[in-house]
Amino acid sequence: MNLADLNKVARAMVAPGKGILAADESSGTIKKRFDAIQVESTEETRRDYREMLFRSTEAMSKHVSGVILYDETIWQNAKDGTPLVKLIEQSGAIPGIKVDEGTQALPQCPGELVTVGLDRLAERLKKYYERGARFAKWRAVIDIGAGTDGRGIPSMTAISVNAHALARYAALCQAAQIVPIVEPEVLMDGDHDIDRCYDVTQRVLNKTFQELRVQRVELEGMVLKPNMAISGKKCPKQASVDEVAEKTVRMLKACVPAAVPGIAFLSGGQSDEDATAHLNAMNRIGNLPWRLTFSYGRALQAAPLKAWSGRPENIAAGQRAFTHRARMNALATKGEWEAGLEKKVA
Ligand code: 13P
Repeated sequence: MNLADLNKVARAMVAPGKGILAADESSGTIKKRFDAIQVESTEETRRDYREMLFRSTEAMSKHVSGVILYDETIWQNAKDGTPLVKLIEQSGAIPGIKVDEGTQALPQCPGELVTVGLDRLAERLKKYYERGARFAKWRAVIDIGAGTDGRGIPSMTAISVNAHALARYAALCQAAQIVPIVEPEVLMDGDHDIDRCYDVTQRVLNKTFQELRVQRVELEGMVLKPNMAISGKKCPKQASVDEVAEKTVRMLKACVPAAVPGIAFLSGGQSDEDATAHLNAMNRIGNLPWRLTFSYGRALQAAPLKAWSGRPENIAAGQRAFTHRARMNALATKGEWEAGLEKKVA
């Protein structure tokens, strides 16, 4: 392992004014997104859609530091035969790859999940590196709820096995000279309030960093992708932008060592504008030991997906919508975003 090179890639991923495009939806998830715009999900439509994003020259060269790809996409070529990975590289962004293989039910823990995909991961990483991937992603999913046995979830079992798997994955990535994005996602689906999210996320982050240490993962050579401290979607009392920003920063300062070069948030079902406003408010607080940026999927893609709607004549409109969202979030990485800018769509 060459830690100096891993650190260089990690720092480029979280460079000021730039963030990560999460375009790694599994075939099942992208089908759901395409269903919503009445587009059939085929190998070709998935390629066309992603090619549209990667050819958004302004967004890609100015605001996007890296792109997380799904296995199918990393092997695909653009319409003219250029590998999609090459399009990303030519724009100046870094190709990355989602390497987890989804979730399975966790035995003895009703309603809880464990992320799988460690088997043969070392060989897969080698092939992805040869294809151009310089970072990877593994997502653990932690749900908050009442549970079925009166004890409530998450259980310590779910937190612990998922943290263990995240650290196993991260160590294998670094051995393969690939920067791991460590993503322990606490879902915002429930009716819990922001303080419950804060408590659970703090436990999850503490356990995750404990496992990373035990398994000798070099913190300078990774990027953390957490959820924000935020109210559950169904909570009647929604925390304000300032409360989300203040509590998220406090939580991260308590849990994330300064050796980690950067934190790139997931959007997790927040509206496009909320995701931008929250990131912006955190960066306005300032004086942080790590860079704070975005690694959004839905909050970057909802607008371009709709503008495109599967029609070749809408490619330019889709690219404009993507560029706008990328630019808004890029401004938020510097605390320079303002709601008024949303109206001046590029
Ligand atoms: P969202 O921003 O849509 O949550 O997706 C980010 C991601 O990569 C989830 O794993």
